[in-house]
Amino acid sequence: MKRLLAALLCAAGFAAAPAAPAQTLIQHAPGRQVLSLNGRWNYIIDPYENGFYDYRRMAFDQSKTGKGGYYDNAKPSSRQEPELIEYDFDQSAGLMVPGDWNSQDPKLLYYEGTIWYKKSFSLKPAAGKRYFLYFGAINYEAHIYLNGKKLGMHKGGFTPIQYDITSQLNATGDNFVVVKADNTRHAEEVPTINTDWWNYGGITRDVFVAEAPETFVVDYKVQLAKNDPTRLAGYVQLDGPAKANQAVTLNIAEAGIKQTLKTDADGRATFSLPAKKLKLWSPQSPKLYAVRLSSGADAVTDNIGFRTIQTKGQDILLNGKSIFMRGISMHDENPLIPGRARGEGDLRMLLTWAKELGCNYVRLAHYPHNEAMLKLADEMGLLVWAEVPVYWTIAWENPATYQNAEAQLSDLISMGKNRASVVVWSVGNETPLGDPRLKFMTSLVTKARSLDDTRLIAAALELHRTPDNVVHVDDALGESLDLTSFNEYAGWYWGGSPSEITKYTFDIKYNKPVVISEFGGDALAGYHGDAETRWSEEYQEALYVNQLKMLSTIKGLRGMTPWILADFRATRRQHPVYQNGFNRKGLISSTGVKKKAFYVLQDYYRQMATKYDGK
Ligand code: GCU
Repeated sequence: MKRLLAALLCAAGFAAAPAAPAQTLIQHAPGRQVLSLNGRWNYIIDPYENGFYDYRRMAFDQSKTGKGGYYDNAKPSSRQEPELIEYDFDQSAGLMVPGDWNSQDPKLLYYEGTIWYKKSFSLKPAAGKRYFLYFGAINYEAHIYLNGKKLGMHKGGFTPIQYDITSQLNATGDNFVVVKADNTRHAEEVPTINTDWWNYGGITRDVFVAEAPETFVVDYKVQLAKNDPTRLAGYVQLDGPAKANQAVTLNIAEAGIKQTLKTDADGRATFSLPAKKLKLWSPQSPKLYAVRLSSGADAVTDNIGFRTIQTKGQDILLNGKSIFMRGISMHDENPLIPGRARGEGDLRMLLTWAKELGCNYVRLAHYPHNEAMLKLADEMGLLVWAEVPVYWTIAWENPATYQNAEAQLSDLISMGKNRASVVVWSVGNETPLGDPRLKFMTSLVTKARSLDDTRLIAAALELHRTPDNVVHVDDALGESLDLTSFNEYAGWYWGGSPSEITKYTFDIKYNKPVVISEFGGDALAGYHGDAETRWSEEYQEALYVNQLKMLSTIKGLRGMTPWILADFRATRRQHPVYQNGFNRKGLISSTGVKKKAFYVLQDYYRQMATKYDGK
C-alpha cells in the first residue's frame, strides 16, 4: 500500500517517491562483486540543517519539486548569471569513509548534529544485473540520496543499510550519492540520550555498491540443527523475477556435501541434511568450511564454522563439552587513534590483544559491531556475545522505540546468524527495573528466539545488595534468559577498597550458568601507588585479584567479560588528571600499554584453560 501511495504522490508531482523499501539485507554482502565507495567524501557541516529545510523549516524533499536541498548537489548553470547556490560539495573539505567525524578534525570532536557527505562514482548499469548501495553503518539517523533522488531514511547507528539502486543509476555511468548523517541524541532513540561511550557520528563502516544477477541468493542460513552435530539445517532465499521453483545447490565440497534444493513460490528452500563428517568449530580448533550456494547465474561462497551451543543446568556446553568463557568486554574503538574501528587492521589488533590475554570469548559491547569483527572471531577462534544498544534508561513505553530496538536486533541476528563465533544474543545492558522495561525486554527475548533458536539469549541484569554483604541477583528478566549475567563493580563503585570486597557473597535466584558481564575499575597507566590508591595501577591490580577471589565462590560461575580490554573515550569521564575524557577501566591504555591488572587476568585465564581445556 505504501508503495502505491508513494507512486500516486509521485505521479501528482509531489516529492519523488522514496525508492522501494530496503530489501532483505544481502547475507555476506561484502563477499559479492563490489565497487567500494570508501575513501575521501566531500562534506558540509550543517548544524542548522539548511541543507534539509527551507527558511520556514519546511523539508525540501517534501516540497512539490522535492528540490532545494544539498542532496541536489546543484551547480550554477552558467558563469554569466549564476544562480545563487550557497554550498558546493566539490569545493568543500573531505572526510575519510569509513570513519567517524569526531576523530578526523579537532573541531568535530564533540560535534553533535548533521553532516552532509557526497561521493561521485562511475558505474554504468549492465543489462541483467542488479545493484545495491550498502552502508555498514551510519550513526545515527541517515537520509540517503542517489543522483538527487531520495532512497530512504534509516535510524540506528550500528547496523547495515541497503537500497536496490538498479533503476536509479544513470545510463551515462556518472552517479553521485549524498548522505545526511545526524548523530543528535534523543531520549526516545536506541540508545537513548545517556550512554557511557563517545557519540561518534558519521559513516563509520564500509560503503560499496554490490552487484548481483537479476535473480540471486539474497539470504541463507547454513548451521547445525539445534543441539545436533550430525545434521545441517537452514534455508536459502532467492530474490528476483525468477525466484520461484528454482534449483539451488548447496555445496560443501570438503565435507562431501552437495545437495540440490528446490525453492517454493516465494523463492525459499529450507533443508535438513545429514552431516556426519563435519569437523566442529571451537576456539581451540576454529575450523571453517567453504560453503558454496548457487542458483542460475548466481553463486556465493561463505566460510562457515559448525558447532553447537547449549546450557545444561549450570553448564555451558560447546559441542557437548562444558566450557568456561574466558572473556573480555570491548567497544568498537581503536584506542590508539581514538575513534570507531576503521577496518580489519583495527579489528585484528583488538582481537589479538584478547588472545594475548588468554581469552576464548569477547563481549562486543554495547551495540552491533562490524560484520568483519564476527568473521575475524570465526577465524581466530573467539566466542562472541553480540548486543543491541538497549542501554540504561530507554523509553520503555514508546512503541516506536520498541520497533527501533527490534529492528536493530533483527538486523544484528540477520548479519551474524552464520557466524559460529556468535553464541550469545544480548537484548540489553543494565536497564532499570520496572514493568514497562520487563515487557519491552522480554518481547525482545521472544523476538530473538523466533529469529534464532540455536543461540543463547542474555542481558546484563540488575542486582541489589543487603547490609549483610549479600549481592542478590533476582531480576525478573533473568527468568526468560539462558544465562545469569550481571555487571558488578565491587571495589570501584561500591563495597570499599579492593581488599574489602571478598566479604561479599552472592545469592543468585536462577539455576543457570553465571557469566559475569562486567566488573572492573579505572587505572591511569603509569600512575603508581599502593593497593589503596584509587586510579593507580596497583589499585586496579588488587581489585582484579580480589574480584576473582570473590567471584570464584559462585558455584555456577562459567565465564566473565571484565570491563574492559582498552581505555575508551567517554564524555562522562572528565577528571583532568586521571581521565581526560577517557574511561580508564581498560586493561590496556589508550597508548597500548598493558597495565598490571592485565597480567592478573591473564594468569587466571591460564589456570581456567588448564582446568577446562586440559591445556
Ligand atoms: C556500566 C556500563 C558500561 C560503563 C561501565 C563503567 O556497567 O555497562 O557501559 O562503561 O559500567 O561505569 O565504566
